[in-house]
Formats: sequence, structure tokens, C-alpha cells
Amino acid sequence: MASTATRTFARAAFRSTPLKTSSRNTAFALPRQAFRQQSRRGYASEPAKSSSTGLFLGIGALALAGGAGAYFYSQGNGSIFSGSAGETKGLFVPKAEDYQKVYNEVAALLQEKDDYDDGSYGPVLVRLAWHASGTYDKETGTGGSNGATMRFAPEGDHGANAGLVAARNFLEPVKAKFPWITYSDLWILSGVCAIQEMQGPTIPYRPGRQDKDIAACTPDGRLPDASKGNKHLRDIFCRMGFNDQEIVALSGAHALGRCHTDRSGFDGPWTFSPTVVTNDYYKLLLDEKWSWKKWNGPKQYEDKSTKSLMMLPTDMALISDKTFKQWVGKYAKDNDLFFKDFAAVITKLFELGVPFDETTQQSPITFKPTA
Ligand code: HEM
Repeated sequence: MASTATRTFARAAFRSTPLKTSSRNTAFALPRQAFRQQSRRGYASEPAKSSSTGLFLGIGALALAGGAGAYFYSQGNGSIFSGSAGETKGLFVPKAEDYQKVYNEVAALLQEKDDYDDGSYGPVLVRLAWHASGTYDKETGTGGSNGATMRFAPEGDHGANAGLVAARNFLEPVKAKFPWITYSDLWILSGVCAIQEMQGPTIPYRPGRQDKDIAACTPDGRLPDASKGNKHLRDIFCRMGFNDQEIVALSGAHALGRCHTDRSGFDGPWTFSPTVVTNDYYKLLLDEKWSWKKWNGPKQYEDKSTKSLMMLPTDMALISDKTFKQWVGKYAKDNDLFFKDFAAVITKLFELGVPFDETTQQSPITFKPTA
């Protein structure tokens, strides 16, 4: 009898054929492994702080106007836009179409630079946006996506952020082309773009984040530790302001990407289609049999059928805890429900700690996908 995992693979491959990156990625196979290993080593040997320094550009030149970013510049200092509506002297207040241009640029880069991992930088861009946001502490109002403090060594060097330098560097040409956008807005916009371009739900986007300096770096330990269980998950996510249902909905992002031995120490993807947003993570959690992987690395699970997929201890906590498991069951059965709840919860995550000017009633931007 074909395993659930195999069926899931076949379905995902069928569904993903229109998208260049996903059709090749769903078919990721062991022969690609050697190549991936090499490409991973290529950047992971660089210290995380290499991107943190030198990226701190002209933060003082940024200001907020009506909840959206405004960019001051003069022809004398070289801060001239190319191809932007603000190509005149003075104050540039970006409009929805300017953010769509940034979106299109990130989407084009995702198509162009397909020699990464399973063929796409999409998953690591989603992880960058999540780690920028997931430092939020509702009690003190510190952390969150408003600040992009991971540019600086203390936070960039946190163990949890290992490897995210690849995502930050990937976005540098976009920042250079659109200097008016803050890093904080760019990282979140890119997460939104990656989700939509990987066939995920539409994620409403509101700009207005400001970059902060090194003093605003958050302390280590605010992001989840994958070796722990349900209590830890609730502690970490309740600190950000999420409930049980939201924790499970957010975790569906592990349909995407993979673990890397040279980053977290864990190894492998969660699903057979790591560059397509699906509810397969929940299906696999419930339908596959999972056992401890026998290896020399940190404790993780592998699927019994193919031994090519993985689950972290925190992933398995979603089915050992009864309340979490109910939501896993709902999302496994109903992809539309997952997409709806995932869009809502990731929007909340991406806006943690952002002081939007509520008086302007700034309506969110809905980006047009390019894929
Ligand atoms: C529930 C607690 C969570 C834990 C313990 C956790 C842990 C991890 C770990 C250990 C990795 C592997 C990193 C590496 O070695 O490269 C990873 C990757 C990833 N995580 Fe999570 N994560 C959690 C929640 C989330 C959430 C809420 C999101 C997004 C909404 C997310 C998105 C991702 C993505 C997309 C990747 C793949 C990155 C890549 O392929 O490079 N994770 N996570």
C-alpha cells in the first residue's frame, strides 16, 4: 500500500506544476542533496554578523507619515530613486503601487535565484520575517517586526537566527534599488511575497515599520527551542499574545523549507513539497508513523515509511497535546480553513509591536501575485 507520504508527494507535485520553483522542488530528490550541501556550506561559513554590519544605512533619514514610510532625500547625497514615483526632489511618500514594485522585485529574484536548497529562497525569507517578529513581548512592548534589529551582531548571532544571513543578503539588492523602504518593512513584505509566490493564501500587508538601532536588540531566548514540549510552546507564544489555535495555525509554516545541520543542528524537510504552502504538515503529522531518528545529532523524529522527512520535538507536541491535536485534525482535513486561519495569524505575527497610526485608518495592501 502506498504510504500517505507518497500520496502527499504525488498530489503536491501535481498541484504545483504551474510554478517553476515548486515543480522542480516537489521533485527534490536525493541526488540534489550533494549540491545542496555545497551551496549551504557556501554561505553558512560566513559569520552572521557580516550582514549585520554595514547595513545600517541612513536610518535617521527615514520618517513616518500617515502610518506609511516617507523618505527624505536630496539630489546632492546620491539618494536618488530609479524607476520610482518619487524621482523628484523632496519628500517621497510611497503608495501601494510602490510597495507592489518592491514585491515584484522580490518575486523576480525568487524566480531568478533558484540554485538554493530545494530551489527557492522562499522558505528562508518566511523564516526571516517570523524571527524578526517573534521576539515580541506583549508585557514590555519590546521586540517584534518594528526595528529589524537582527541586522546587528548581538541579535544576528543568536543561535536561533543561524543561517538567516542568507535571507538578509538575498534582500540587499532590493534594498539598494528601493532605498526608501525600511529593512523592517522590507523583511515583512518579503515574507508576504514568499508565501504568496509559493501558492499560499493572500496576506494583507501594512507598511509603517521603522528601523531601530543596536540598543533595541532583544535578549537571546525569545524564540522557541525545538527540543522542548507543549508547555514551552505555550510560554513562548503566549508571551507574544497567541492562543492554542494560533500556535497550531502558525506551525503549518513548517510545510515549507528544511532544517540544516550547520544551523539548528536538525536535518531534513517536513514535507515532500517544501516550496509550496499546503496543509501537508498536519496530514503527515497525523497519517505517518514517526519514530526517533537514529543518528549522532539532536533528538528528532523521522517518518517510518521513507525516512526522508522529519519532525522536531515541538512539532510532535502538537499531536501529543489534546487541545493542540484537535486543531491539527481540523487543518489536516480542510486546506481552506488552514489558509484562512494561517493568513489571519501570520498577519497578526507580522504586525507585532508595530505602532500603526490608527487614526489614518490605513487600509492594508493586497499584493498581486506574479506566479
Ligand atoms: C513552533 C515553534 C517553532 C520552532 C521550535 C521552530 C524551529 C525551527 C527550526 C529548528 C528550523 C530549522 C532551521 C535550520 O536549521 O535552518 C525551522 C525552520 C523553519 N521554520 Fe520554524 N520553528 C517554529 C515555528 C515557526 C513558525 C511560527 C514559522 C512561520 C510562521 C516557522 C517557519 C519556518 C520555516 C519557513 C523554516 C524553514 C527555513 C529554511 O528552509 O531555511 N517556524 N524552524
